[in-house]
Amino acid sequence: MIYLDNAATTWPKPESMVKAVGDCIRNTGANPGRGGHQMSLAAGRLIYDARELLAKLFNIDNPSRVVFTGNATESLNLVLKGILKPGSHVVTSSMEHNAVARPLHFLRQQGVEVSIVECSPSGVLDPADVEKVVRKNTKALVVLHASNVTGTIMPVEQLGQIAANHGISFILDAAQTAGYLDIDVEKLHIDALAFTGHKGLYGPQGTGGLFVREGLEVIPLLQGGTGSKSESLEQPVDLPDRFESGTPNTPGIAGLAEGVRVITQKGLGEIRRHENLLLQRFIDGLEQLRQVQIYGPSDPAQRVPVVSLNIKDQDSSEIAFILDRVYGIACRSGLHCSPQAHKTIGTLKKGTVRFSFSMYNTIEEIDRTLHALEEIITEVS
Ligand code: ALA
Repeated sequence: MIYLDNAATTWPKPESMVKAVGDCIRNTGANPGRGGHQMSLAAGRLIYDARELLAKLFNIDNPSRVVFTGNATESLNLVLKGILKPGSHVVTSSMEHNAVARPLHFLRQQGVEVSIVECSPSGVLDPADVEKVVRKNTKALVVLHASNVTGTIMPVEQLGQIAANHGISFILDAAQTAGYLDIDVEKLHIDALAFTGHKGLYGPQGTGGLFVREGLEVIPLLQGGTGSKSESLEQPVDLPDRFESGTPNTPGIAGLAEGVRVITQKGLGEIRRHENLLLQRFIDGLEQLRQVQIYGPSDPAQRVPVVSLNIKDQDSSEIAFILDRVYGIACRSGLHCSPQAHKTIGTLKKGTVRFSFSMYNTIEEIDRTLHALEEIITEVS
């Protein structure tokens, strides 16, 4: 199998990550923060270590501001529903995944005002267009860091500065970029950072988190047991307990911590260097093929290693099906849970065939995929 669906979830995972999950279940299987015995304390330490690693990765000075969730979608729901009230205004882009678009649609029905800034057909957002729609009641700006459809990287430096200048909260959806692009919450003026554990951080599915800047008032989505202040019916005010009710996914978090260790040791710069080689090779090869339309920015420096394409007017699912069944190549077709992005790039009806790379893919796999596409084009022409 050639696995090129890493924007959906990275695979394979580092062996040490898989081992860390098993070791946790086997040896540190107690409930963290819910007991004074040694096993519970060890589980608590494991979770704290994971918070520290993530805080370091994103330049967060206080690890307690990192909250664990099940995925980026949960993180985004938590922060958006926790800060936006009827009458407040939020700005977003036309490239968003449903993880942002659906909660905002729901909130709009509750009386929140939503401005969706149109991106170019290659998914590029102009910061000047964002600034134009900011108004007195604007509470937040929420965007993805890079598109899961076209790979387009958003101008986050400028967006963070605009948010800071206007005193609005900058919420970044880093589902496609955490572990790949450098993210510094201070430099980028990020007030809330939503990330998932199972993509560029090479952790297990069902892990993710949210950084919440001190001073940002977020109403918790959940209330419940936290192992702290149990005598009170009020949800604790201190983080991370305020947002972490119920027993956490300790084995998953152990795996996530190991994933972060692996990428940190390898170096994000080295990961990007390798994946950029793959990206460049793939795009160069595609440009030699007839009847292939590639979406997204033409400059590979403006995208993460995610490439969407169509072959003539062929159905994207049919191409992905042939790639899988005939050539053993896994990719993702259709709308990628991002109908707004597809509308922006003009592919809402047919979707696209999407290829996305990880640090484990090789040049040889790229060449075999190009060869497969060439054969498919000849077949369907
Ligand atoms: N959001 C993930 C994707 O783009 C699942 O495939």
